[in-house]
Amino acid sequence: MVVALSLAAAGSSGRAPDNALVSDVQVSPAADDVSAPTPEDALVDASVEVPVATPTEAPVDAPGLEQRIFNIGISIYTFDDYFMNLCRHEMEKYFNAMESYAVKYNVTVVDAMGDQAVQNDQVDEFIAQGVDVMIINLVQSSSANTVTERAKAADIPVVYINREPNGDDMTAWDNICYVGVETLLKQQGIRMGEIICDLPDRGDADGDGVVRYVMITGEPDNNDGFRTVSSIMALNDAGIKSEQLLQVQGYWNQEKARELAADALAQFGAMIDVIFCNDDYMALGALQAIKDAGRSVGEDIYLVGIDATPEAVYAIIAGDMTGTVRNCPMRQAHAAVSAAIRYAYGERNDTYNWIELVKVTADNATNYIK
Ligand code: BGC
Repeated sequence: MVVALSLAAAGSSGRAPDNALVSDVQVSPAADDVSAPTPEDALVDASVEVPVATPTEAPVDAPGLEQRIFNIGISIYTFDDYFMNLCRHEMEKYFNAMESYAVKYNVTVVDAMGDQAVQNDQVDEFIAQGVDVMIINLVQSSSANTVTERAKAADIPVVYINREPNGDDMTAWDNICYVGVETLLKQQGIRMGEIICDLPDRGDADGDGVVRYVMITGEPDNNDGFRTVSSIMALNDAGIKSEQLLQVQGYWNQEKARELAADALAQFGAMIDVIFCNDDYMALGALQAIKDAGRSVGEDIYLVGIDATPEAVYAIIAGDMTGTVRNCPMRQAHAAVSAAIRYAYGERNDTYNWIELVKVTADNATNYIK
């Protein structure tokens, strides 16, 4: 059984839900539209382990088998985040799929609305309810210790997902773990930078010897921000001369990124060789601005993001994006649920449970859609 709760929005600092923006570069329905095929339907990932549904009736040969019920509390940093919506829906589905006559998962999902204080209260509430395990998608990467201290006092294990806690914080207790892509060692950004380095002109679209770029970042106090510096580290390591024209915060928001990219294109025009975006939703916003400015990806400008959302993969196939780095919300969801179930049964998890990163370009993009 899954319960999703969106608390009253009063006082929330969460973002507007316009990441579900419909534009001519978005090909999938909003993640909450359950009647239409969801974006994850377009994902092919043969290596993702899909559980076989187990029978819910009592097995005839095991009369009297007792059913175990585990209560799981999940807090998502904001339900306005499209990527995290994919992830949370997949966690709900996966918990359901893991149920059987012998075991039930009562899953409660709450929206922290972009406010760490709200999330801390939700953690207290989960503890008061006596949940068996919590899955926490932190509002602030720096706030893991606040959550861990409360969880440890109540002896309730925590799986942190997607927004990587600060490194030191992961040593605070044996019963906490992290599921997500590697952030602090900067591999995501390096892969994104490498996509530019691997181009025949090494990202120098106008051939003047310097790769001039605009950087659209996610949000402050989030360790995914390491994507920013590390993408340029890859260019430096490859001996590519680069110059940052502008760095702006897009808050993982497609429309905001479109506006920022439009302003940058108006300000710097043909000087811009590359637009780096900390995720694909922002890259899709930038793509709209690039088209509106009469520029053409792959011809006079390059555009990269992170996530490999279905929309971005389609854009790569259409030649509208140069590349992305896969940061699969489905894999994160499966790994988080598996870790939570291990905790529920009193088992241990590795502190870090990394999801593999893959560069996605025109060369391999078709492998990532149906
Ligand atoms: C993803 C973004 C998402 C963010 C939320 C990142 O890992 O790349 O798409 O908005 O997580 O924290």
